[in-house]
Amino acid sequence: MLHLQICQGTTCYVMGAAQLASLAAQLPEDLRGRVRVTGCRCLGLCRDGAFGGAPYVTIDGEVLAAATIDSILAALRARLQEAHP
Ligand code: FES
Repeated sequence: MLHLQICQGTTCYVMGAAQLASLAAQLPEDLRGRVRVTGCRCLGLCRDGAFGGAPYVTIDGEVLAAATIDSILAALRARLQEAHP
């Protein structure tokens, strides 16, 4: 099971993480039961700007910057495809 962590720190929240939280309740059918979604405190990434911008999420620890619902779903599906081609 993949672990999606959505940063709920202030910068990410203001930059769009509030909308991303809906993923926890509305994962598409093909991802249900395959992804665990949690929120977390500031990951510390918003301070150095090296990762491309908030909001940040991680998927099994790998950072995804400027996350949108579409980019998260694409990244989750790509990872599942890698694991089970
Ligand atoms: S608020 Fe998300 S990384 Fe800092």
